[in-house]
Amino acid sequence: TLPGFGPRGGLTHSVVPPNRKDDIVIPRGYEQAVIIGWGDPVLPGAPKFDVNKQTPEAQAKQFGYNNDYTMIVPLRDERKALLVCNHEYTDEYLMFPTGRYDDATTKKIAMAAHGMAVVGIERVGRSGEWRRDKQLPKYNRRITVDTEFEVTGPAAADARVGKKAFGTIGNCAGGITPWGTILSGEENFQGYFDVSGAVAAEHTTSFKRYGVPTTKTTQKGWSTVDARFDLAKTPTEAYRFGWIVEVDPYDPKSTPKKRSMLGRLKHEGATVTITADGRIAAYTGDDERGEYIYKFVSTGRYDEKNRKANFGLLDEGTLYVARFTGDGSADGLYDGTGQWIPLTSDKESFVPGMSVADVLINTRLAADKVSPTRMDRPEDIERNPVNGKVYAALTNNSNRGGIFGVDEANPLAKSFVRDTLDGPLVEKSGNRNGYVLELSEEGDDAAKTGFFWNLFLVCGDPAAQETYFGGFDKTKVSPISCPDNVAFDGSGNLWISTDGNVLGSNDGIFTVPVAGPNRGQVKQFLSVPFAAEACGPLISDDDRTAFVAVQHPGETDDATFEKPTSTWPHTHKYPRPAISCVWRKDGGRVGS
Ligand code: FEO
Ligand code: CA
Ligand code: CA
Ligand code: CA
Repeated sequence: TLPGFGPRGGLTHSVVPPNRKDDIVIPRGYEQAVIIGWGDPVLPGAPKFDVNKQTPEAQAKQFGYNNDYTMIVPLRDERKALLVCNHEYTDEYLMFPTGRYDDATTKKIAMAAHGMAVVGIERVGRSGEWRRDKQLPKYNRRITVDTEFEVTGPAAADARVGKKAFGTIGNCAGGITPWGTILSGEENFQGYFDVSGAVAAEHTTSFKRYGVPTTKTTQKGWSTVDARFDLAKTPTEAYRFGWIVEVDPYDPKSTPKKRSMLGRLKHEGATVTITADGRIAAYTGDDERGEYIYKFVSTGRYDEKNRKANFGLLDEGTLYVARFTGDGSADGLYDGTGQWIPLTSDKESFVPGMSVADVLINTRLAADKVSPTRMDRPEDIERNPVNGKVYAALTNNSNRGGIFGVDEANPLAKSFVRDTLDGPLVEKSGNRNGYVLELSEEGDDAAKTGFFWNLFLVCGDPAAQETYFGGFDKTKVSPISCPDNVAFDGSGNLWISTDGNVLGSNDGIFTVPVAGPNRGQVKQFLSVPFAAEACGPLISDDDRTAFVAVQHPGETDDATFEKPTSTWPHTHKYPRPAISCVWRKDGGRVGS
């Protein structure tokens, strides 16, 4: 048995069946509780949440909307910790009673509900349960659309970006650095801009590549309350988003950073590992159909003894994009080799005709020139600390086989879905259920430019012939659809959360061993409430708690504030995105 994969790491939890309940459903012998949800106080002076008395000022002191990435960072007192999370976006139709607020007020509240939160939490007794610390410790912080950021790295010197930016939006997934800061990805930033006239011609090539509007349009209408969101007036505002941001949760007064050296794209997130010679590598996916996977490798080495010496590590190094080459179908596996193609270092661009700043600001355009592989929506990518392999969620791509041709890493032009829990499987074009890709860096060294890869999971209903579960018996696995985020427990087991399940059931969290005789045995660990997506997931360092961020419960086309399709967590008549923890009643290891 490989280290870490012995009986201790077994995933013996009972399987949660596919369902449509408006609750978190967990295995037998487990309990769960909400830690914090939309509107709960974060900063001193925050009023008790009242859906009818919302103000932008109150929201800026309260927990924001649509919690996505979730991380726990330790404090010296081990009964306490900090919960850091992203507030990706807002669902106004579920936040505001019809006709209760004027248009400008709803926009300002929504803007304050975006961003990030740092929240003190405390352990309940000696169990795996955590609750929010009502003392609101000094670390508590809200970052919103108005928070000042410092842009660092080569693009800060470029007039299109500059050294200062305000706010962070579309924050999806993220990662923690070895020095205890949080990285967060600005993903769908393009949807926040209006254009009152026309965008200056010099910007249109770039904007079109990112889906940023170039002609007269109103999207969220934020430009009516903050003129910088009108790209006819301030086109450069679009270049201040699409970055990886770094936040120091231990220093609530610190200015968060936008790390331009990691490129500008629709970052899902960024996760960090240490290379064989002690440098830093960060993996980041560009979450849109047919986009690429990137890696940054630092010039400097990680200094374990001097925390602050690491604060500039993400500003100098080389940014790469991935090309996947298949080895053919004769072996019956989707696998092959790959190459990290350098795009630019902080000093020298490797893309002809583009400067260092050009490559970092228009990373998609730069990558287009070196023929990387167009992937099926690269989401969370993270290195397994036990076996050293890198796991990437490729959530789906309805256009695969259409405008994007198939290749061995993106092989499905057709796949099976079902509309309802008991409905028949129906064939659709494209890759609807997604993959989990397993990547091994050459020599197990994240600084190397060569790698091996294989599709570990071809997701879907196991009854559908195209699915593959790491070679495991398909009659003994849970259906899984649209993997989004990945995490690992202390034994190296992979935990996967899903977003957009097209098999007629709620999204959830799934466990799967990546080694040993049960490699590929996907089991559903929990399901999230109706029409929510499962974010996080996160397993605590002591393996006693699983954290799940329940994002957008009740987000359906037919829902209104007065007639919601979810009321989770059932504290009110409308849904509230919130973060929950799940633990074993007997205090044992989660997953077992
Ligand atoms: Fe915000 Fe890529 O999901
Ligand atoms: Ca093959
Ligand atoms: Ca995501
Ligand atoms: Ca998502």
